[in-house]
Amino acid sequence: LGHDLVYFQELDSTNTYLKKLPGREISHGLLCLVDSQTKGRGQYNKSWETKPGKNLTFTIAFKPSESGRFHIVTLVCAKAIIDELEDRYGLNPYMKWPNDIFVGDKKIAGLLTESTFSGNKIDRLLVGIGLNVNQEDFPKELMNIAGSLKLLTGEEISREELLASLLSRMEYGYGRWHKRDQSQLKEINQKIEGYGRWVKLKIGDKIREKPGKLLGINEKGQMTIINPEGEIETFSYEQIRIIA
Ligand code: BTN
Repeated sequence: LGHDLVYFQELDSTNTYLKKLPGREISHGLLCLVDSQTKGRGQYNKSWETKPGKNLTFTIAFKPSESGRFHIVTLVCAKAIIDELEDRYGLNPYMKWPNDIFVGDKKIAGLLTESTFSGNKIDRLLVGIGLNVNQEDFPKELMNIAGSLKLLTGEEISREELLASLLSRMEYGYGRWHKRDQSQLKEINQKIEGYGRWVKLKIGDKIREKPGKLLGINEKGQMTIINPEGEIETFSYEQIRIIA
């Protein structure tokens, strides 16, 4: 991943850029890296703000030969970030479903995956990542929720080294995904907040009265739960929100 690379000082959004690029210009693993975005996008139509010169803002284009299980690729990338923060900085990150990364009560990174199809075949799977690295102050409305590696570790971190390490972890994780490595799913599940516990759930736009026990993602990347009646239910990542 990242052997082919496009870099811009500023773009509207790395996801938008790669979405618009003609398919023949996209190689598997193509990385679009920027220093800042003018229209960074987050999940649920929110915006993603990043301070120039401080953070990591990029999108990786995957061209899977498979026909499904795509949500797991996002989780594989999130897990690569989690592993890096654990191994290198001794932090205790976890995934907030579907794809935010938190340390304690602070959000450190967010992922936004989008895809384009030609016919019913996937043409590109774009995993966009915003990781707060050296940013120390955040807009007032984000003060209580946003954090960065620098705020957590007290160190100024090399974005280049961090990116190189993340890409190699993601490449390794993607290889395991491709081989359908079952233990990878278990490792991912262990990092999902609420895993193995009874949690409050929002399905679609309705909060469920009764909790469900999170059994984790299955091999299709759907979230599986068991309800108080003992029935197993599965949901796509967009359908289910976990209010842990
Ligand atoms: C979220 O927290 O809701 C997801 C945030 C995703 C932000 C990244 S930054 C790089 C890529 N380009 C975008 O416009 N968004 C993603």
